[in-house]
Amino acid sequence: MRIAVPAETDAMEARVAATPETVKKLIGLGAEVLVQSGAGVASGLLDADYEKAGAAIAPDVSSTMVGADIVLAVRRPFPASLAGVNHGAAVLAIMDPYGHHDALEGLAHAHVQAFAMELMPRITRAQVMDVLSSQANLAGYRAVLDAAAEYGRAIPMMMTAAGTVPAAKIFIMGVGVAGLQAIATARRLGGIVTATDVRPATKEQVESLGAKFLAVEDDEFKQAQTAGGYAKEMSKEYQAKQAALTASHIAKQDIVITTALIPGRPAPRLITADMVESMRPGSVIVDLAVERGGNCELAQPGQIVVSENGVKIVGWLNTPGRLAATASQLYAKNLLAFLETLIDKDSKSLKIDGEDELVKATRLTFGGVIVHPAFAAA
Ligand code: NAI
Repeated sequence: MRIAVPAETDAMEARVAATPETVKKLIGLGAEVLVQSGAGVASGLLDADYEKAGAAIAPDVSSTMVGADIVLAVRRPFPASLAGVNHGAAVLAIMDPYGHHDALEGLAHAHVQAFAMELMPRITRAQVMDVLSSQANLAGYRAVLDAAAEYGRAIPMMMTAAGTVPAAKIFIMGVGVAGLQAIATARRLGGIVTATDVRPATKEQVESLGAKFLAVEDDEFKQAQTAGGYAKEMSKEYQAKQAALTASHIAKQDIVITTALIPGRPAPRLITADMVESMRPGSVIVDLAVERGGNCELAQPGQIVVSENGVKIVGWLNTPGRLAATASQLYAKNLLAFLETLIDKDSKSLKIDGEDELVKATRLTFGGVIVHPAFAAA
């Protein structure tokens, strides 16, 4: 059983899908591991570290992939790069499947079994495989640090001989995994933290972290959480009420971190240009949803936009990748945990149970076709 760990091809991607720690465990499962030279460098992991763990280093992508039964990647590999893998090989990555039907067709035609790690069900058994959580948690942390770095003032209240510095007011919009970590981080830095979400369950979570909850708590709010624990897209009427409530609040904030997402939909627009206009110069907005269209009207992917009134809107892409070493450590563990369920310990080979709910939820392609019901007919 051969496992390939190619270097990521996207220049924005500093993470890697295996670490020396997980390589050791994979070898313990009976695998031979090939890591492409330099794959871990941006995460602080050298070829020599992988070799010490027992991996072989391959000079390029084709020699990494050749004869592979399993491919571990951060982002969806190009189908052409999979030419040399074995028929039916399992490819585990963050596949970003929505709106990328052609790429999924390409994976199907490459005769691999592509698994989208981000579709892992949020059930107790799969918590250790939950890449959305492991990465969003780091994004929430990093977003606050990015905001602090761009903010030209101190965050905590300071009483000094030269005068008193007021604490920064920090507002977190969207309180999923990233938002909760952003609240905790902003509190640790000494900010005065408020937060909002459309799911009622978040109110208690926000308060338990010592922050104040702010939301339009009407009948629609009470129904806003799906059975899967996600937010629904809210009605136009709710959005208008929410905008009215948050507009006056945002005007008084120094830092706003937005993290609001709706699965399979564009990110909800929560901050208009007018709201940005109402903030004082030097305030900072970090939009973690920028890759999905953005929560802030002025956010631009990969840029810091400075509004006419001097508000900085930070739209860094791949925020977990800005903490690449930690993100890789956790992501690699997520992959290892899932892989353990796909490998037969006795025969030391791939044995995928098509009836397993984790496989059903994540497998996009199999037998030359797209098999996932959410994408097959697209
Ligand atoms: P997400 O990344 O899909 O969305 C982030 C947050 O944005 C969510 O809290 C969502 O309610 C909020 N949001 C959406 N539209 C909004 C709007 N218009 N205004 C304000 N906020 C808005 O969410 P994430 O972080 O993936 O968490 C989703 C759920 O999964 C949560 O209930 C979380 O507790 C749960 N979860 C469960 C796990 C488990 O293993 N049981 C593990 C991790 C998360």
